[in-house]
Amino acid sequence: MNVPFFTSTREYANHKAAFDESVLSVMAHGGFILGKDVETFEQACAKYLGVKYALGVASGSDALVLASDVLGFRDGAEVLTPTFTFFASTSCVARLGAKPVFVDLDEETLNMNVNDAEKRLTARTKGIIPVHLFLQSADMSHVMQLAQKHGLKVLEDSAEAFGMKTQVNGEWKSAGTIGDAGVYSFFPTKTLGGYGDAGLLVTNDEELYKKFRSYRVHGSSVKYHHDYIGYNSRLDTMQAAILNVKLGYVDQAIARRAVHAKHYNERLSSLQNLRFPKIRPSNQEVYYVYNILAERRDELAEHLKNKGIGVSIYYPIPLHLQKCFSYLGHKRGDFPVAEKVCSDILALPMFPELTADEIDYVCDAIESFYL
Ligand SMILES: Cc1ncc(COP(=O)(O)O)c(C=O)c1O
Repeated sequence: MNVPFFTSTREYANHKAAFDESVLSVMAHGGFILGKDVETFEQACAKYLGVKYALGVASGSDALVLASDVLGFRDGAEVLTPTFTFFASTSCVARLGAKPVFVDLDEETLNMNVNDAEKRLTARTKGIIPVHLFLQSADMSHVMQLAQKHGLKVLEDSAEAFGMKTQVNGEWKSAGTIGDAGVYSFFPTKTLGGYGDAGLLVTNDEELYKKFRSYRVHGSSVKYHHDYIGYNSRLDTMQAAILNVKLGYVDQAIARRAVHAKHYNERLSSLQNLRFPKIRPSNQEVYYVYNILAERRDELAEHLKNKGIGVSIYYPIPLHLQKCFSYLGHKRGDFPVAEKVCSDILALPMFPELTADEIDYVCDAIESFYL
Protein backbone atom coordinates (compact mmCIF):
# COMPACT_ATOMS: atom_id res chain seq x y z
CA MET A 1 0.00 0.00 0.00
CA ASN A 2 1.13 3.61 -0.59
CA VAL A 3 -0.12 6.21 1.88
CA PRO A 4 0.58 9.78 0.78
CA PHE A 5 1.55 12.31 3.43
CA PHE A 6 -0.91 14.67 1.77
CA THR A 7 -2.86 14.81 -1.47
CA SER A 8 -5.52 17.18 -2.80
CA THR A 9 -6.55 14.86 -5.65
CA ARG A 10 -9.16 12.93 -3.63
CA GLU A 11 -10.77 16.15 -2.49
CA TYR A 12 -10.88 17.46 -6.04
CA ALA A 13 -12.51 14.25 -7.23
CA ASN A 14 -15.14 14.52 -4.45
CA HIS A 15 -16.04 18.16 -5.18
CA LYS A 16 -15.08 18.42 -8.85
CA ALA A 17 -18.29 20.06 -10.06
CA ALA A 18 -18.15 22.85 -7.45
CA PHE A 19 -14.44 23.59 -8.05
CA ASP A 20 -14.85 23.57 -11.83
CA GLU A 21 -17.84 25.89 -11.69
CA SER A 22 -16.12 28.35 -9.36
CA VAL A 23 -12.84 28.49 -11.30
CA LEU A 24 -14.54 28.65 -14.69
CA SER A 25 -16.71 31.53 -13.54
CA VAL A 26 -13.53 33.55 -12.93
CA MET A 27 -12.30 32.67 -16.43
CA ALA A 28 -15.67 33.79 -17.79
CA HIS A 29 -15.91 37.13 -15.97
CA GLY A 30 -12.21 37.85 -16.53
CA GLY A 31 -11.60 39.94 -13.40
CA PHE A 32 -8.40 38.32 -12.20
CA ILE A 33 -7.19 40.92 -9.69
CA LEU A 34 -9.12 41.20 -6.40
CA GLY A 35 -12.87 41.69 -7.11
CA LYS A 36 -15.97 39.94 -5.84
CA ASP A 37 -14.54 36.43 -5.30
CA VAL A 38 -11.87 37.88 -3.00
CA GLU A 39 -14.34 40.12 -1.15
CA THR A 40 -16.77 37.24 -0.65
CA PHE A 41 -13.96 35.13 0.79
CA GLU A 42 -12.72 37.91 3.07
CA GLN A 43 -16.20 38.53 4.47
CA ALA A 44 -16.89 34.83 4.94
CA CYS A 45 -13.56 34.40 6.76
CA ALA A 46 -14.21 37.39 9.04
CA LYS A 47 -17.58 35.86 9.96
CA TYR A 48 -16.17 32.36 10.47
CA LEU A 49 -13.30 33.61 12.63
CA GLY A 50 -15.33 36.19 14.55
CA VAL A 51 -13.12 39.15 13.65
CA LYS A 52 -13.98 42.59 12.27
CA TYR A 53 -11.63 42.77 9.30
CA ALA A 54 -10.04 40.17 7.02
CA LEU A 55 -7.78 40.93 4.07
CA GLY A 56 -6.68 38.43 1.44
CA VAL A 57 -2.97 38.51 0.57
CA ALA A 58 -0.62 36.42 -1.56
CA SER A 59 0.66 34.05 1.16
CA GLY A 60 1.07 33.60 4.89
CA SER A 61 4.69 34.68 4.58
CA ASP A 62 3.69 37.92 2.86
CA ALA A 63 1.03 38.53 5.51
CA LEU A 64 3.72 38.26 8.20
CA VAL A 65 6.07 40.71 6.46
CA LEU A 66 3.33 43.20 5.69
CA ALA A 67 1.97 43.12 9.25
CA SER A 68 5.47 43.31 10.78
CA ASP A 69 6.18 46.38 8.70
CA VAL A 70 2.95 48.13 9.71
CA LEU A 71 3.32 47.17 13.40
CA GLY A 72 6.85 48.60 13.49
CA PHE A 73 8.73 45.31 13.90
CA ARG A 74 11.68 46.84 12.08
CA ASP A 75 14.84 48.97 12.33
CA GLY A 76 16.48 47.63 15.49
CA ALA A 77 13.31 46.76 17.40
CA GLU A 78 13.47 43.47 19.30
CA VAL A 79 10.73 40.93 18.65
CA LEU A 80 10.15 37.77 20.68
CA THR A 81 9.61 34.74 18.46
CA PRO A 82 9.87 30.99 19.04
CA THR A 83 12.97 29.23 17.76
CA PHE A 84 10.85 26.19 16.92
CA THR A 85 8.59 27.27 14.06
CA PHE A 86 8.52 27.72 10.31
CA PHE A 87 11.19 30.08 9.00
CA ALA A 88 8.70 32.80 7.96
CA SER A 89 7.66 33.48 11.59
CA THR A 90 11.10 35.04 12.09
CA SER A 91 12.38 36.05 8.66
CA CYS A 92 9.50 38.55 8.50
CA VAL A 93 11.07 40.78 11.14
CA ALA A 94 14.72 40.00 10.37
CA ARG A 95 14.31 41.19 6.77
CA LEU A 96 12.96 44.53 8.06
CA GLY A 97 16.00 45.09 10.24
CA ALA A 98 14.39 44.06 13.54
CA LYS A 99 16.23 41.70 15.88
CA PRO A 100 14.54 38.32 16.40
CA VAL A 101 14.84 37.33 20.06
CA PHE A 102 14.34 33.59 20.19
CA VAL A 103 12.24 31.88 22.84
CA ASP A 104 12.27 28.20 23.82
CA LEU A 105 9.14 26.09 23.75
CA ASP A 106 6.87 24.49 26.23
CA GLU A 107 7.83 20.82 26.35
CA GLU A 108 4.25 19.55 26.56
CA THR A 109 2.36 21.67 24.04
CA LEU A 110 5.28 22.45 21.69
CA ASN A 111 4.22 26.11 21.66
CA MET A 112 6.14 29.15 22.87
CA ASN A 113 7.12 29.05 26.55
CA VAL A 114 5.77 32.44 27.63
CA ASN A 115 7.75 32.41 30.91
CA ASP A 116 10.91 32.08 28.85
CA ALA A 117 9.71 34.95 26.63
CA GLU A 118 9.32 37.17 29.69
CA LYS A 119 12.92 36.53 30.75
CA ARG A 120 14.15 37.79 27.40
CA LEU A 121 12.37 41.17 27.50
CA THR A 122 14.49 44.30 27.26
CA ALA A 123 13.76 48.02 26.94
CA ARG A 124 13.95 47.57 23.15
CA THR A 125 11.31 44.81 22.94
CA LYS A 126 8.60 46.05 20.61
CA GLY A 127 6.52 42.98 20.00
CA ILE A 128 5.87 39.30 20.24
CA ILE A 129 4.94 36.71 17.61
CA PRO A 130 3.22 33.73 19.21
CA VAL A 131 2.83 30.85 16.75
CA HIS A 132 -0.07 28.40 17.01
CA LEU A 133 1.68 25.24 15.95
CA PHE A 134 0.32 22.03 14.44
CA LEU A 135 -2.87 21.48 16.45
CA GLN A 136 -3.38 24.10 19.14
CA SER A 137 -3.10 27.74 20.09
CA ALA A 138 -0.20 29.19 22.04
CA ASP A 139 -1.11 30.33 25.57
CA MET A 140 -2.75 33.59 24.48
CA SER A 141 -4.02 34.59 27.96
CA HIS A 142 -0.44 34.63 29.14
CA VAL A 143 0.83 36.32 25.97
CA MET A 144 -1.77 39.09 26.28
CA GLN A 145 -0.97 39.64 29.97
CA LEU A 146 2.70 40.02 29.10
CA ALA A 147 1.90 42.32 26.18
CA GLN A 148 -0.34 44.57 28.28
CA LYS A 149 2.17 44.76 31.11
CA HIS A 150 5.07 45.72 28.82
CA GLY A 151 3.28 47.57 26.00
CA LEU A 152 4.09 45.00 23.32
CA LYS A 153 2.36 44.62 19.96
CA VAL A 154 1.12 41.08 19.33
CA LEU A 155 1.22 39.52 15.88
CA GLU A 156 -0.27 36.02 15.91
CA ASP A 157 1.22 33.62 13.42
CA SER A 158 -1.90 31.54 12.87
CA ALA A 159 -0.67 30.20 9.53
CA GLU A 160 -1.47 26.68 10.76
CA ALA A 161 -4.41 27.60 12.96
CA PHE A 162 -7.50 28.04 10.81
CA GLY A 163 -10.42 26.77 12.93
CA MET A 164 -8.47 26.47 16.21
CA LYS A 165 -10.09 28.05 19.26
CA THR A 166 -8.73 29.08 22.62
CA GLN A 167 -10.13 30.49 25.84
CA VAL A 168 -9.00 33.97 26.83
CA ASN A 169 -10.47 35.35 30.07
CA GLY A 170 -13.14 32.65 29.95
CA GLU A 171 -14.21 33.48 26.39
CA TRP A 172 -13.64 31.15 23.41
CA LYS A 173 -11.95 32.94 20.52
CA SER A 174 -10.46 31.93 17.19
CA ALA A 175 -6.69 31.64 17.33
CA GLY A 176 -5.40 34.59 15.33
CA THR A 177 -8.06 37.10 16.43
CA ILE A 178 -6.76 37.96 19.90
CA GLY A 179 -3.64 40.06 19.36
CA ASP A 180 -3.25 43.26 17.31
CA ALA A 181 -3.25 41.23 14.11
CA GLY A 182 -3.23 37.62 12.98
CA VAL A 183 -2.12 35.90 9.79
CA TYR A 184 -3.29 32.68 8.13
CA SER A 185 -1.74 30.62 5.38
CA PHE A 186 -3.72 28.75 2.76
CA PHE A 187 -0.72 26.76 1.52
CA PRO A 188 -2.19 23.59 -0.06
CA THR A 189 -1.52 21.25 2.90
CA LYS A 190 -3.16 23.59 5.42
CA THR A 191 -6.50 22.86 7.11
CA LEU A 192 -8.04 25.35 4.69
CA GLY A 193 -5.63 24.98 1.78
CA GLY A 194 -5.72 26.63 -1.64
CA TYR A 195 -4.52 25.07 -4.87
CA GLY A 196 -1.49 27.34 -4.81
CA ASP A 197 -0.21 30.08 -2.49
CA ALA A 198 -2.65 32.27 -0.56
CA GLY A 199 -2.90 34.04 2.79
CA LEU A 200 -5.01 36.26 5.03
CA LEU A 201 -4.47 39.08 7.51
CA VAL A 202 -7.04 39.79 10.23
CA THR A 203 -7.49 42.51 12.83
CA ASN A 204 -10.20 44.14 14.95
CA ASP A 205 -8.51 47.54 14.62
CA GLU A 206 -9.93 49.75 11.85
CA GLU A 207 -6.82 51.92 11.51
CA LEU A 208 -4.57 48.88 11.18
CA TYR A 209 -6.94 47.37 8.63
CA LYS A 210 -6.86 50.52 6.49
CA LYS A 211 -3.08 50.50 6.56
CA PHE A 212 -2.88 46.77 5.74
CA ARG A 213 -5.24 47.36 2.79
CA SER A 214 -3.07 50.14 1.50
CA TYR A 215 0.17 48.18 2.02
CA ARG A 216 -1.34 45.32 -0.02
CA VAL A 217 -1.34 47.53 -3.13
CA HIS A 218 1.92 49.49 -3.03
CA GLY A 219 0.86 51.68 -0.12
CA SER A 220 -1.89 53.36 -2.08
CA SER A 221 -5.59 53.70 -1.36
CA VAL A 222 -6.19 55.87 -4.45
CA LYS A 223 -4.60 54.47 -7.60
CA TYR A 224 -1.16 55.98 -8.35
CA HIS A 225 -1.17 57.98 -5.10
CA HIS A 226 1.28 56.33 -2.70
CA ASP A 227 1.08 57.14 1.02
CA TYR A 228 3.49 54.38 2.00
CA ILE A 229 6.13 52.19 0.41
CA GLY A 230 3.98 49.10 0.41
CA TYR A 231 3.93 45.75 -1.35
CA ASN A 232 2.19 43.98 -4.18
CA SER A 233 0.55 41.13 -2.30
CA ARG A 234 -3.02 40.40 -3.27
CA LEU A 235 -4.94 37.19 -2.77
CA ASP A 236 -5.12 35.66 -6.23
CA THR A 237 -8.71 35.65 -7.50
CA MET A 238 -8.47 32.04 -8.72
CA GLN A 239 -7.37 30.97 -5.25
CA ALA A 240 -10.27 32.92 -3.73
CA ALA A 241 -12.65 31.03 -6.05
CA ILE A 242 -11.22 27.71 -4.83
CA LEU A 243 -11.15 28.76 -1.19
CA ASN A 244 -14.78 29.92 -1.35
CA VAL A 245 -15.75 26.34 -2.22
CA LYS A 246 -13.54 24.87 0.53
CA LEU A 247 -14.69 27.26 3.25
CA GLY A 248 -18.21 25.87 2.70
CA TYR A 249 -17.21 22.50 4.16
CA VAL A 250 -14.18 23.35 6.31
CA ASP A 251 -15.93 22.23 9.51
CA GLN A 252 -16.57 18.78 8.04
CA ALA A 253 -12.93 18.63 6.91
CA ILE A 254 -11.79 19.55 10.45
CA ALA A 255 -14.11 16.87 11.88
CA ARG A 256 -12.57 14.22 9.57
CA ARG A 257 -9.10 15.21 10.77
CA ALA A 258 -10.30 14.75 14.37
CA VAL A 259 -11.59 11.25 13.56
CA HIS A 260 -8.20 10.32 12.09
CA ALA A 261 -6.32 11.75 15.10
CA LYS A 262 -8.51 9.70 17.44
CA HIS A 263 -7.78 6.60 15.39
CA TYR A 264 -4.00 7.25 15.56
CA ASN A 265 -4.27 7.92 19.32
CA GLU A 266 -6.13 4.69 19.94
CA ARG A 267 -3.61 2.66 18.01
CA LEU A 268 -0.40 4.36 19.12
CA SER A 269 -0.80 5.83 22.61
CA SER A 270 0.25 2.66 24.43
CA LEU A 271 3.57 2.37 22.57
CA GLN A 272 6.38 3.04 25.06
CA ASN A 273 8.71 4.41 22.38
CA LEU A 274 6.46 7.34 21.49
CA ARG A 275 5.40 10.57 23.19
CA PHE A 276 2.63 12.91 22.07
CA PRO A 277 2.01 16.65 22.35
CA LYS A 278 -0.46 17.45 25.14
CA ILE A 279 -3.49 19.62 24.51
CA ARG A 280 -4.14 22.41 27.02
CA PRO A 281 -7.69 22.23 28.47
CA SER A 282 -8.30 25.83 27.37
CA ASN A 283 -7.70 24.90 23.71
CA GLN A 284 -9.97 23.40 21.08
CA GLU A 285 -7.57 21.55 18.84
CA VAL A 286 -7.56 21.25 15.05
CA TYR A 287 -5.26 18.62 13.57
CA TYR A 288 -3.41 20.43 10.83
CA VAL A 289 -0.55 18.00 11.55
CA TYR A 290 -0.49 14.75 13.53
CA ASN A 291 2.90 14.54 15.23
CA ILE A 292 4.59 11.88 17.29
CA LEU A 293 7.82 12.26 19.25
CA ALA A 294 9.65 9.05 18.48
CA GLU A 295 12.70 7.17 19.74
CA ARG A 296 15.14 6.53 16.85
CA ARG A 297 13.10 8.99 14.79
CA ASP A 298 15.28 8.96 11.67
CA GLU A 299 15.33 5.15 11.46
CA LEU A 300 11.56 5.04 11.96
CA ALA A 301 11.05 7.63 9.20
CA GLU A 302 13.19 5.54 6.85
CA HIS A 303 11.26 2.38 7.77
CA LEU A 304 7.93 4.11 7.02
CA LYS A 305 9.19 5.50 3.72
CA ASN A 306 10.33 2.01 2.70
CA LYS A 307 6.79 0.82 3.32
CA GLY A 308 5.37 3.48 1.00
CA ILE A 309 4.24 5.86 3.75
CA GLY A 310 4.75 9.59 3.37
CA VAL A 311 6.11 11.34 6.47
CA SER A 312 7.47 14.80 7.14
CA ILE A 313 9.63 16.49 9.75
CA TYR A 314 8.41 19.83 11.02
CA TYR A 315 11.04 21.10 11.88
CA PRO A 316 14.44 19.41 11.67
CA ILE A 317 16.53 22.45 12.71
CA PRO A 318 15.52 25.17 15.19
CA LEU A 319 15.86 28.69 13.84
CA HIS A 320 18.65 29.72 16.24
CA LEU A 321 20.90 27.14 14.52
CA GLN A 322 20.07 28.20 10.95
CA LYS A 323 23.03 29.55 8.99
CA CYS A 324 21.26 32.80 8.07
CA PHE A 325 20.77 33.64 11.76
CA SER A 326 24.36 32.89 12.80
CA TYR A 327 24.86 36.67 13.23
CA LEU A 328 22.70 36.41 16.35
CA GLY A 329 25.50 34.37 17.98
CA HIS A 330 23.56 31.34 19.22
CA LYS A 331 25.02 27.87 19.67
CA ARG A 332 23.74 24.33 20.22
CA GLY A 333 22.44 24.00 23.78
CA ASP A 334 20.95 27.52 23.96
CA PHE A 335 17.35 26.25 23.55
CA PRO A 336 17.45 22.66 24.80
CA VAL A 337 13.73 21.88 24.60
CA ALA A 338 13.48 22.98 20.98
CA GLU A 339 16.64 21.11 20.02
CA LYS A 340 15.37 17.85 21.54
CA VAL A 341 11.97 18.18 19.86
CA CYS A 342 13.67 18.76 16.50
CA SER A 343 15.45 15.42 16.84
CA ASP A 344 12.33 13.43 17.91
CA ILE A 345 9.39 14.87 16.01
CA LEU A 346 7.74 13.11 13.07
CA ALA A 347 4.51 13.97 11.25
CA LEU A 348 2.29 11.14 9.97
CA PRO A 349 -0.15 11.34 7.05
CA MET A 350 -3.08 13.63 7.85
CA PHE A 351 -5.72 14.96 5.47
CA PRO A 352 -9.52 14.63 5.52
CA GLU A 353 -9.80 11.97 2.81
CA LEU A 354 -7.35 9.55 4.47
CA THR A 355 -9.00 6.14 5.06
CA ALA A 356 -9.15 4.03 8.23
CA ASP A 357 -7.30 1.23 6.40
CA GLU A 358 -4.49 3.59 5.54
CA ILE A 359 -4.17 4.70 9.16
CA ASP A 360 -4.10 1.06 10.29
CA TYR A 361 -1.37 0.37 7.74
CA VAL A 362 0.71 3.29 9.12
CA CYS A 363 0.18 2.13 12.73
CA ASP A 364 1.03 -1.51 11.88
CA ALA A 365 4.26 -0.27 10.30
CA ILE A 366 5.17 1.77 13.41
CA GLU A 367 4.40 -1.17 15.72
CA SER A 368 6.48 -3.56 13.62
CA PHE A 369 9.43 -1.15 13.78
CA TYR A 370 9.55 -1.18 17.60
CA LEU A 371 8.85 -4.94 18.06
C1 LIG B 1 3.90 28.68 11.25
C2 LIG B 1 3.91 29.15 9.84
N1 LIG B 1 4.17 30.45 9.58
C3 LIG B 1 4.17 30.93 8.34
C4 LIG B 1 3.92 30.12 7.25
C5 LIG B 1 4.01 30.71 5.88
O1 LIG B 1 2.86 30.58 5.12
P1 LIG B 1 2.93 30.49 3.53
O2 LIG B 1 3.47 29.14 3.17
O3 LIG B 1 1.51 30.66 3.10
O4 LIG B 1 3.79 31.59 3.06
C6 LIG B 1 3.65 28.76 7.46
C7 LIG B 1 3.31 27.81 6.39
O5 LIG B 1 3.89 27.49 5.46
C8 LIG B 1 3.65 28.26 8.79
O6 LIG B 1 3.41 26.97 9.03
